[in-house]
Amino acid sequence: EGPQPLAGRHALVTSGPTHEPIDPVRYIANRSSGKQGHAIAAALARLGAAVTLVSGPTRQPDPAGCRVVHVETAREMLAACEAALPADVAVCAAAVADWRVAAEADRKLKKDGSGPPALALTENPDILATLSQAGPRRPALVVGFAAETGDVLAYAAAKRARKGCDWIVANDVSPGTGTFGGSDNTVHLIRADGSDSWPTMSKEAVAARLAEAIAGQFERR
Ligand code: C5P
Repeated sequence: EGPQPLAGRHALVTSGPTHEPIDPVRYIANRSSGKQGHAIAAALARLGAAVTLVSGPTRQPDPAGCRVVHVETAREMLAACEAALPADVAVCAAAVADWRVAAEADRKLKKDGSGPPALALTENPDILATLSQAGPRRPALVVGFAAETGDVLAYAAAKRARKGCDWIVANDVSPGTGTFGGSDNTVHLIRADGSDSWPTMSKEAVAARLAEAIAGQFERR
């Protein structure tokens, strides 16, 4: 074991995609692998934090030393996060579905000859924004992610302000970068007072460096 600068701190991490049901057998999902979020949970645990990882469906094993809450939908993810509070730090790395089907069918939709069904969508809760604006229950440090395809720094800075979080880890997910499902990541850390661009590194290395930055933030308080 190395140094434990986050001993006594509770870290909440979201990871993976969400699955939003259409009917009992179908769902809307996205390509998030959960690699980055799970690596962050593991890295925070290695620095001594008590970690609650709220994960959507992924192929990742539960990281060592973390309490893992498995969820499927955005609404379940939000409820699990709220139930996990208080936390000193929240890192929202999940790729939460923006929309869900407004009226989930309780029976499998059938081809009945009248053409394909129209799926009305409704907006999901924004977990990062909710945690960032949680009043007295707000974690002292809230970190969000931004996946952008161009003008990464400008869009990420705007997102930081809009969501109300403290830091944004922004990455370029333009086609060809291989970030989604890949093992490397090129990120920028955006804070209120500026940003740092990190060299391309493995998702594990990004996680370790982010965990160190989080520990540094608590040491300076
Ligand atoms: O708005 P956008 O999805 O681009 O923002 C990404 C950030 O917001 C990520 O940190 C993601 O985990 C978080 N998010 C969330 N709940 C949503 C949508 C995004 O926590 N419904």
